[in-house]
Amino acid sequence: MNFDRIAPVYRLLEYATFGPLLWQTRIHFLHKLATANHILTMGGGDGRFLAQLLKLNPKSTVDYYDSSARMLEIARTRNAQDAHRVQFHHSDLTQSKLPLNTYDAIAAHFFLDCFNDHELTALLASLTPSAKPDCLWLISEFNIPNTPFSNLIAQLLTRALYLCFAFATGLKTTKLPNYQAALEAAGLTLDEQQPHLASLLLSQIWRSPSEFKSAIHE
Ligand SMILES: C[S@@+](CC[C@H](N)C(=O)[O-])C[C@H]1O[C@@H](n2cnc3c(N)ncnc32)[C@H](O)[C@@H]1O
Repeated sequence: MNFDRIAPVYRLLEYATFGPLLWQTRIHFLHKLATANHILTMGGGDGRFLAQLLKLNPKSTVDYYDSSARMLEIARTRNAQDAHRVQFHHSDLTQSKLPLNTYDAIAAHFFLDCFNDHELTALLASLTPSAKPDCLWLISEFNIPNTPFSNLIAQLLTRALYLCFAFATGLKTTKLPNYQAALEAAGLTLDEQQPHLASLLLSQIWRSPSEFKSAIHE
C-alpha cells in the first residue's frame, strides 16, 4: 500500500467527493488538544490538520508519522514555519517502536480504516503504552449506522471507497474494521462523539486509562 500516487490530489479528491464534511469531522474536537504538550499523529497525510493543530496550540510538539514519502513531503512544506516543533517520521507505524508513556494526545483521522480487525488490534496494543495516563485520542472515521437505509448507503459507500483505494494505493483492506471494539479492547473509553452526514462519519474522543486504572491492569 502506498499513498504517494494520490498525495498531490488527495485534498482535491476529498472536496470533490465529500465537500467540507471530512474536514469538519477532523476538526470537530480539535479544541480538546489546545493544552496538550506532546502529540502523536498517526497517518497524518498531507498536513492540513497538523497546520490547524499547531496554530491552535503554540506550545505543543508533534511526532508525525506517515508511511507515504510524498504525503510527508507535502505536510512538511505546508508546515515549514513550524518545522522546529514537528518530528516528521517516514515510517510504517506497524513496524515502529515509539517511546513509552510520552503522548498527551494522539490523532488518527481516517487512518484506522487502513487496517483489518486483526492488524488494528495488534497496532493498538503496540501503541497504547506510548500514551500517558488519560491521553486523549482524537479519532475521525467512517461509520456503518444501524438504521436500515443509512446502513445500506454506508455499506455501498465504504465498499466503493475501498475499491477506489485498492486501485489507487494498493490497499488490501476491503471493509471497515470494528475500530470501536479494537479501541475498547486496547483499554480506551469513549468520552464523546459527534456524528456527521446522517452518522456516516464520526468524530470521537477516546481516553487512555488513568494512572490508577493502569496500575490495576499491571
Ligand atoms: C486515508 S489517508 C488519511 C490521511 C489523513 N489522516 C487525513 O485525514 O487526511 C491514510 C494515511 O495513513 C497513511 N498510512 C497508512 N498506513 C500506514 C502505516 N502502517 N503507517 C503509517 N502511515 C500509514 C497513508 O500513507 C495515508 O497518508
